[in-house]
Amino acid sequence: MSVLEVILSRRSIRRYEDKEIPEDVLDRIIGAGRHAPSAANKQPYRFVIVTDAELKKAISGLVSRFVKNAPLVIVGCANPKAMLTGKWSTIDTTIALENMVLAAWSLGLGSCWIGSFNEEKVKRSLKIPQDWKVVALVCFGYSAESPKQRKRKDTTELFSLNQF
Ligand SMILES: Cc1cc2nc3c(=O)[nH]c(=O)nc-3n(C[C@H](O)[C@H](O)[C@H](O)COP(=O)(O)O)c2cc1C
Repeated sequence: MSVLEVILSRRSIRRYEDKEIPEDVLDRIIGAGRHAPSAANKQPYRFVIVTDAELKKAISGLVSRFVKNAPLVIVGCANPKAMLTGKWSTIDTTIALENMVLAAWSLGLGSCWIGSFNEEKVKRSLKIPQDWKVVALVCFGYSAESPKQRKRKDTTELFSLNQF
């Protein structure tokens, strides 16, 4: 698939096959995250790879209970106190996570961003330092569903030429 085909065909996947993600596939997903751009190349982030069933259960929010059924959850953490570029740390983390989402889709895996989580609970469960920020969780796994494309706003509502 071309990059454009990956971007246009990707869907959020919330139901997963009961199938492990092979190590080489995980390595390629992680590699895509590592190669993301970041402000001044400071990479002010850390990603916790969660495969342990008990931990997945602990970080599953009330709204997104399917988190615990995903073979893999990657938790994106930003360091807002990072030297010079701390203020970009959330954006940097987000870009790296989306790189992983797109890489996963190109390798035949679905994923779903999770914004609905209890930050304190996630921090406690995964021993994330208090002064770091949990930006988002992303679940990964082989898809057990084929969701339709969700509607997007019209181009004219989202883009304008030369002025807002
Ligand atoms: C920052 C962010 C947070 C999200 N949080 C959740 C979530 O907590 N639970 C969930 O089921 N989906 C979540 N989603 C997935 C969106 O609902 C989904 O991307 C959107 O409906 C568009 O559908 P699509 O990804 O299939 O194109 C989140 C997406 C983003 C980008």
